[in-house]
Amino acid sequence: MTPHHRPPTSSHPKPQSSGLSDLSARANHWTVIAGLLPFVWPAGRPDLRLQVVLAFIVLVIAKLVTIMVPIVFKEATDWLTANQPAAGTTGGVLALSATGLILAYGFGRVMMMVLNQIRDLFFTKVGQHAVRALNARTFQHLHKLSLRFHLERRTGGLSRVIERAARGIELIIRMGFLQLVPTVLELALVCIVLLIYFDIVYVAIVLSTVVLYMWFTFAASEWRIQIRREMNDSDNDANTKAIDSLLNFETVKYFGNEELETRRFDAAMARYEHAAIRTYYSLGVLNSGQAAIFTIGMTLSMWLAARGVVAGTHTVGDFVMINAMMIQLYMPLNFMGMVYREIKQGLVDLETMFALLEENPEVEDKPGAKALVVQHGGIRFDNVSFAYDRDRPILKDISFDVPAGKMVAIVGPSGAGKSTISRILFRFYDIQSGAVTIDGQDVRDVTQKSLRAAIGVVPQDTVLFNDTIHYNIRYGRTDATEAEIEEAAKLAQIDRFIATLPEGYRTMVGERGLKLSGGEKQRVAIARTILKGPPILMLDEATSALDSHTEKEIQDALDRVARNRTTLVIAHRLSTIVHADNILVLDGGRLVEQGTHAELIERNGLYASLWSRQRQAEKAREELAQALEEAARAGAIRADDLV
Ligand SMILES: Nc1ncnc2c1ncn2[C@@H]1O[C@H](COP(=O)(O)OP(=O)(O)O)[C@@H](O)[C@H]1O
Ligand SMILES: [Mg+2]
Repeated sequence: MTPHHRPPTSSHPKPQSSGLSDLSARANHWTVIAGLLPFVWPAGRPDLRLQVVLAFIVLVIAKLVTIMVPIVFKEATDWLTANQPAAGTTGGVLALSATGLILAYGFGRVMMMVLNQIRDLFFTKVGQHAVRALNARTFQHLHKLSLRFHLERRTGGLSRVIERAARGIELIIRMGFLQLVPTVLELALVCIVLLIYFDIVYVAIVLSTVVLYMWFTFAASEWRIQIRREMNDSDNDANTKAIDSLLNFETVKYFGNEELETRRFDAAMARYEHAAIRTYYSLGVLNSGQAAIFTIGMTLSMWLAARGVVAGTHTVGDFVMINAMMIQLYMPLNFMGMVYREIKQGLVDLETMFALLEENPEVEDKPGAKALVVQHGGIRFDNVSFAYDRDRPILKDISFDVPAGKMVAIVGPSGAGKSTISRILFRFYDIQSGAVTIDGQDVRDVTQKSLRAAIGVVPQDTVLFNDTIHYNIRYGRTDATEAEIEEAAKLAQIDRFIATLPEGYRTMVGERGLKLSGGEKQRVAIARTILKGPPILMLDEATSALDSHTEKEIQDALDRVARNRTTLVIAHRLSTIVHADNILVLDGGRLVEQGTHAELIERNGLYASLWSRQRQAEKAREELAQALEEAARAGAIRADDLV
């Protein structure tokens, strides 16, 4: 594996490639094979290593038996021709030795099969272990990679990379150890037997046939791999398109774009169709060519042997043996095209996986990083500047303090950089200049694990796991008791909603939590953060998805949770943060104002104008509600319409 290069933290992150196909260019076959070795010869698993050794022993014995079969066949044939009754006489009895030869032939064939099965079993254990170990490594690594990496890549594509790589390992082990190595061994044995019973000319014929055969097979397979790659690409493409389209089911309906989606999917499938047909066509070329080359070699050696029989230098048994041996050799050779193709294919599939493993996490713990020690939980941003992409600065020289145990609010127009501040504090990204500290410790100097354990986040868009409500709340702290989970649900005001569900806490929330409303999802997210109980709390428009009635209720809960905790609130509705100890007003990535609500109103700047605009809107809403209520009381509207 190549050494990891860490980008210096002060500079911009290196631009990462955006497509999975770019990744495969960075690894090659040899690094893949080298990378695979520790998985098939696993350190610390002497049992598995023993299996590998046993498998090789069985493999050699199996091949020795294999090569004995045509020899026994030859001996039997020679005996039979020698004991043929002369014309006109009645036949004799089958001698014991000949019966023995025929029985040995049958036994040899059975043993060949049985030994192969035993060998397969040994290798399967090793192979499956390698699949599991490598998958676990990759999965863990994927979670280490940056948020940027995951935002730029398509999850459907990633999961298929893992799926394919698992198949790739299996293929390489199966094809390499179970086909390639045994075939080479068999070829060597065939040559030895030919030298003993025939002469070097036969060896030359068989070897050159095999070499020509292999050359043709590899060249044709190379061509087929190109086609196969195209097939993979279009398959990937069609798949991500389908997943994306189905994830956006509602959006597709909003815009009536079902046909556009179908066309897009169909276009990708058309590419696949074309490549798939070419794959079959090329298979025909490969098979025919292989058969032609091998048959020529076999015919030639049989012709030589036949001449030898007539000349008296060889027996009929020799003639029969050379045919039996060649046909026997053809069987594994016939697989060589597939072996080559599958091994290459396995390598291609694994390349992407290994390239993923070599992808450096953008945010990494410093060597010897210590755990964050939270004494009071004071946060400080010092001249922080940050950009997601080099040429578009998002935060510009931001400085502020969140004193321990206080609540500081960040407000400002959409796109001002509010959520970016929370992502930086959580260290999803490293900043380009300045410093972010918690109790005087730079977030880049402590371990990510300890930093993230200290911060509870209720994000702007909550996504839930496709599991039960119970599972999603308990996710906040997996060792929480039932009573604690219910307490957290109560604090987040979701308990009454759960009580109305027929399955209560065991209700499934659907993929990404889509079966819950925005408000319900948000409250589940609040409950799981309450359960986590961190010293620092970060609420990113945590109540923006709620109606104002529910918002008031939850606000109480949030205020209670926030008490005695350092809290950073990103607020959409200003009415929810009037009591904040300090309010930061962000506009276009700059901190334009800060102070308490009263101070900022006094100042009559951006905050004051945002405030009056929201007040007006709220007043209008209240008046409307009042008017409706009066109308209802007067009987003009049915009370149901008010809901
Ligand atoms: N992962 C990202 N890559 C590039 N730009 C981003 C990314 N996330 C957010 N931005 C941009 O950064 C700006 C600030 O975003 P954000 O902090 O989410 O704003 P808000 O104040 O609404 O929370 C926006 O203009 C947004 O387009
Ligand atoms: Mg935001």
